[in-house]
Amino acid sequence: MKKNAYITGASSGIGEEFANQLAASYNLILVARNKSKLESLVKELNLKHSESKASFLPLDLTESKDIISFCKTIENDSNLGMLVNNAGYGTVGEFAELDIQEELREIQLNVTTLVSATHSALKNFKKQNTGIIINVASIASYLAAPYSATYAATKAYVRSFTESIHEEAKVHGILVQALCPGLTHSDFHQRAGIEKKDFPNFMWMNSKEVVSTSIKSLKSKQAICIPGGVNQSAVGLTNFIPSSLTRKFAGMLMKK
Ligand SMILES: NC(=O)c1ccc[n+]([C@@H]2O[C@H](COP(=O)([O-])OP(=O)(O)OC[C@H]3O[C@@H](n4cnc5c(N)ncnc54)[C@H](OP(=O)(O)O)[C@@H]3O)[C@@H](O)[C@H]2O)c1
Repeated sequence: MKKNAYITGASSGIGEEFANQLAASYNLILVARNKSKLESLVKELNLKHSESKASFLPLDLTESKDIISFCKTIENDSNLGMLVNNAGYGTVGEFAELDIQEELREIQLNVTTLVSATHSALKNFKKQNTGIIINVASIASYLAAPYSATYAATKAYVRSFTESIHEEAKVHGILVQALCPGLTHSDFHQRAGIEKKDFPNFMWMNSKEVVSTSIKSLKSKQAICIPGGVNQSAVGLTNFIPSSLTRKFAGMLMKK
């Protein structure tokens, strides 16, 4: 019997692409708020892949009752095989002027919910001595980013947390990956109010390449997956350029 894979933020972008690329190998449980998008994706996947079954849970992962229900479901699923913690969003602007409730919701979704779901999955996987968790961070995790301060900090948390958990989990046969994409075509930028044209073409990847790199690199059991040569070089440069300069550069891009 095929194992179950839960994908959060599966109604668009990178999460939807994880659903497309995992559908042949897992029974999928897709999670997001937009019920109609999830419904049509599930329909499409079930038509394409008779060998597995897709279903969905319409949940708001910033709402405590939905988070609790999601975590219980993961922890008690005796057929759990994979968790992709992908749901997330970014806010842009001077921190003091942003709506603090929205900033706190961003921390809830990008960090706190991810931590709770990781905990529930690990408890389950430890009983099985196997399992895979992919936590979607960002190359933004390597920089402080003025005018996107909360977002960059949430992703720094996710990467650091995931690297630590990677080591703890591997002794139990569990693989934990921090996926760090760079600029990727999706609904993310429109939702954040970022103008795509402010970033040159060579910096962009599509979600197909990002997700296939992540899935392929599970084989090498690395803690971190940075898709694309441009992104890898950008991260490499942060080792040599003082953070006083990288954060100024990031701030200039975000302020636009
Ligand atoms: N695109 C990029 O350039 C880029 C780069 C680095 C990292 N990332 C990361 O990649 C991940 C996916 O982003 P994306 O680029 O695919 O953006 P996206 O197209 O906007 O997708 C975000 C997903 O998160 C879901 N979501 C948002 N709020 C939610 C909530 N309260 N509860 C449940 N689900 C929620 C959305 O679904 P609903 O609206 O239906 O709830 C959607 O499915 C994020 O963690 C993002 O930080 C993106």
